[in-house]
Amino acid sequence: MALDKPYIDIPGTIIFDADMASIGFHLNQFCMSLMKAENRKRFRAAQRAYLDEWALSEKQKQAVLDRDYNRMIALGGNIYFLAKIFFTDHVSFQSAAASMTDMTQEQYARMMLEGGRSPEGWLFDPEKAVKPEAPKTAGAKITAGVTTSHVPAIGAAIDLGKTEQPYWQPLFDGYAYSKKWIAEQKPDVIILLYNDHATAFSLDLVPTFAIGAGEVYKPADEGWGPRPVPDVIGHPKLAAHIAQSVIIDGFDLTIVNTMNVDHGLTVPLSLMFGQPVAWPCRVIPFPVNVVLYPPPTGRRCYALGKALRKAVASFDEELNVQIWGTGGMSHQLHGPRAGLINKAFDNDFIDQLLADPEGLSHKPHVEYVRQSGSEGIELVVWLIMWGALNDKVTLKHRFYHVPASNTAVGHLILENS
Ligand code: DHB
Ligand code: FE
Repeated sequence: MALDKPYIDIPGTIIFDADMASIGFHLNQFCMSLMKAENRKRFRAAQRAYLDEWALSEKQKQAVLDRDYNRMIALGGNIYFLAKIFFTDHVSFQSAAASMTDMTQEQYARMMLEGGRSPEGWLFDPEKAVKPEAPKTAGAKITAGVTTSHVPAIGAAIDLGKTEQPYWQPLFDGYAYSKKWIAEQKPDVIILLYNDHATAFSLDLVPTFAIGAGEVYKPADEGWGPRPVPDVIGHPKLAAHIAQSVIIDGFDLTIVNTMNVDHGLTVPLSLMFGQPVAWPCRVIPFPVNVVLYPPPTGRRCYALGKALRKAVASFDEELNVQIWGTGGMSHQLHGPRAGLINKAFDNDFIDQLLADPEGLSHKPHVEYVRQSGSEGIELVVWLIMWGALNDKVTLKHRFYHVPASNTAVGHLILENS
């Protein structure tokens, strides 16, 4: 569905929203390249040739060559990105701003000295007023939820053809039902909640909640080479809609257009879909920080799930959406306590998730790490999935197995009633 744009009637103004960011992606990426001195030098020397290195539209290229900033903005450029062009030209913010008005530099400078442009006549353009939308007929629906552990060794077992070995067979038997179930469900989109394991995000940047709004994500090389699995195809429109809806509801997501996805995302896809040449549906990656303390609280995760439910339900396109929460269950991957498995905790966690998710959402982090191991904290991610499901769900499948590498594997399939 089109994004809600209450700002569309502001005169002489284009708000840089997800639609504009999508139109202007390559234009803005080209601008960013001008932050390197050697690139500025090459651009100055041969502008057309330099622009031809970027996937800009012909109109965008011409607007850059013409230094037509209004046009660049209409074509998805954002002023802070475009600043890299006018700084390359040694033009100031004020001169660039003046060039977008119908004034001369001198007139504009004088206007600013005299107190700036008066808001009078510049607040509202009745011609551009938002028209009420026709009531929607069909929309997107979250139909089911899946939780599963995402141990990298499981991915390796699949990739190396070891699934029938005695160590692995009992684990893969637990997913036999799931494969049949998903083949019947045929989701259009999966919102895949997982934690990035120092793959896309180093300590340079640690977003608590992030949403992938890109077109495509490559399987990451985590050190053994990328897994031989298909690229993950995103759903930028639904992702942008979700981002806008949940941010306005108070959940400040980080929007990620470019990243590689690690085992947290690809192993669950392999467990459920096997080894297809292409994943049979689109995936919106949704990384949650559980690496650098503190992760988001269970309360926050559960409430975010509810905001996601609302966001999906207000997307106009008819889509069968599933929500997956990956990670867990018990595992500790480091130190003298490595290998900790707490079967009682894991099974109580699932029982309480089914019976009283609201109560479970109050469990403090320290209980997860004390009881289920330091890396067992991945389980908070499951609460986001739970919040996104209806109040009534049907449990279709429950599986628990120890061990996969260092971890207790837990897996649930839930259908919205
Ligand atoms: C293991 C489990 C994980 O969830 C993970 O992210 C990495 C390793 C393991 O058990 O080896
Ligand atoms: Fe993990």
